[in-house]
Amino acid sequence: MIKITTPATREEYKAYYALRYKVLREPWGHPKGTEKDDYEPISEHFMAINEAGEVVGVVKLYEKSAGVGSVSHLAVAQEYQRKGIGHMLLNAVEHRARERGMTVVGSMSRVTSTAYFEKWGYHVVGLPAPHLGTTNLVWMEKKLDD
Ligand SMILES: CC(C)(COP(=O)(O)OP(=O)(O)OC[C@H]1O[C@@H](n2cnc3c(N)ncnc32)[C@H](O)[C@@H]1OP(=O)(O)O)[C@@H](O)C(=O)NCCC(=O)NCCS
Repeated sequence: MIKITTPATREEYKAYYALRYKVLREPWGHPKGTEKDDYEPISEHFMAINEAGEVVGVVKLYEKSAGVGSVSHLAVAQEYQRKGIGHMLLNAVEHRARERGMTVVGSMSRVTSTAYFEKWGYHVVGLPAPHLGTTNLVWMEKKLDD
């Protein structure tokens, strides 16, 4: 069974960032370190754990502006994709965003993932912009109902 939890120990954070790097950076040959951004210290981190305690999915949340949550670095290990884990992680961050009083959540989505976010109620708001020279990102938003 997959559980959603938050990293707490140094080892858990290492595994959390390792999965983020493996899914979102390594395939494009980006160097280690590029998997982190300036918002790590003010973010809440969530990870999906399998029965063996391995990290198989990750996502983070921070308040981008008053009432607006930024959902970022959503990634699921390749062999665990299309099993509902991405959706579980999105539900977890959206639940937390509501708890914190946020009314909107958004994500800088890869242009290849906009259909995925649309499936869960997000819509494109911005214009695509280049990211790390290999992909384009576009801001997508979802209103959180009360
Ligand atoms: C995108 C991602 C997070 C989705 O997580 P997931 O656990 O595989 O997705 P879920 O199981 O929650 O949802 C599956 C459904 O979403 C849809 N879906 C999944 N990936 C999709 C994609 N890239 N584009 C469009 N729809 C997609 C499908 O409808 C799928 O249902 P189906 O298998 O019955 O057709 C995951 O595939 C991933 O990590 N991809 C690589 C990194 C990435 O692109 N991250 C997004 C950051 S912008």
